Amino acid sequence: MAAIALEKVVKAYNTFQVVHSIDLEIRDHEFMVLVGPSGCGKSTTLRMIAGLESISGGEIRIDGRRVNELLPGERDIAMVFQNYALYPHLSVEDNITFGLRLRKAGKAEIEKRLAETARILDIEALLKRKPRQLSGGQRQRVAMGRAMIRNPSVFLFDEPLSNLDAKLRVQMRAEIKQLHEIMPTTTVYVTHDQVEAMTLADRVVVMNGGHIEQVAAPQELYLKPASKFVAGFIGSPGMNFFKARMLEEDGGTFAVLDNDARIPINRGIADLTGRDIEIGIRPEHFSIGASMAPDAVAMEAEAGLIEPLGMDMLVHLTLAGSKIVVRAPPNLALRRGDKLGLFVDPANVYVFDQDGRATYIG
Ligand SMILES: Nc1ncnc2c1ncn2[C@@H]1O[C@H](COP(=O)(O)OP(=O)(O)OP(=O)(O)O)[C@@H](O)[C@H]1O
Ligand SMILES: [Mg+2]
Repeated sequence: MAAIALEKVVKAYNTFQVVHSIDLEIRDHEFMVLVGPSGCGKSTTLRMIAGLESISGGEIRIDGRRVNELLPGERDIAMVFQNYALYPHLSVEDNITFGLRLRKAGKAEIEKRLAETARILDIEALLKRKPRQLSGGQRQRVAMGRAMIRNPSVFLFDEPLSNLDAKLRVQMRAEIKQLHEIMPTTTVYVTHDQVEAMTLADRVVVMNGGHIEQVAAPQELYLKPASKFVAGFIGSPGMNFFKARMLEEDGGTFAVLDNDARIPINRGIADLTGRDIEIGIRPEHFSIGASMAPDAVAMEAEAGLIEPLGMDMLVHLTLAGSKIVVRAPPNLALRRGDKLGLFVDPANVYVFDQDGRATYIG
């Protein structure tokens, strides 16, 4: 059992702060993913939890115990790195059991745990090989085996799949998730890949510039992003944004776009009336040619670059002064330069204030 708590945690290199006083509670058994663009402080945060970086301010607790002053080996954690860090001259089984032997575990105990770990990871046939005789995915499994065999109270992963090709990444991603279902050890997992974050996590932490933007379950991040940053980061392609002005008229509130389209906004955000705002619409929330929504707003645009993806296609175009992407069904006979009728259901429109904060009812 191990929950992790970060309280006002700061990391500074000399006077340069890279993590700015973050608070975070990771529950026992939880699979928590830290995601964000390069340089936002994900690895630094993970390494402070691991004890590989000193903590400049605040407190980290694992299982209620302050760990700031503890060495990595005293924290009961196991970490899996991007480069796996396997010993090239040791066999797979010696790599996996290295830590146990170092701690003078008994032979029978080591053999039992090796067999169990190898079975779960499906690497029983590889135990006598050296790392160089393994594929990337197999090396990845050995690195995980080395972490698992210690039965730690926390797993830490830093971009463990980024050396693998796209197909293997998807496969290993599913394996890691399945492994967590069998062995629900508290896990903190760092990635810059939002799809990996969404598919693996119980909850996701979105980081930006050393700050936490939002902590939420994957579906909530998608449906209720707290900020423009999160809205643009989660989803592939990300949300489209438009400059707009809030207007109150005929007893209703409208967002008026640069092309004079008026989108009714039926939400308690009267304090934004008369202000410049931004609205967001996801690529998948445009309908082309027609709409089932009774109060859909119609706009016109010209198709630009078209990217067929098989199950659907992405249409790049300019709408109301913004370069955007629209997801379209694959069977549309669409060519660059074609005129498109675009329909938007106001229920799918997000509103952001000038500071980029999203506003929702209630
Ligand atoms: N030893 C160091 N000295 C000074 N600055 C550092 C040091 N290590 C990291 N940084 C800075 O801290 C910030 C956060 O780095 P970190 O490695 O945590 O980013 P990250 O989110 O893991 O990015 P990536 O996705 O590229 O791995 C970066 O701006 C980086 O340049
Ligand atoms: Mg990193």
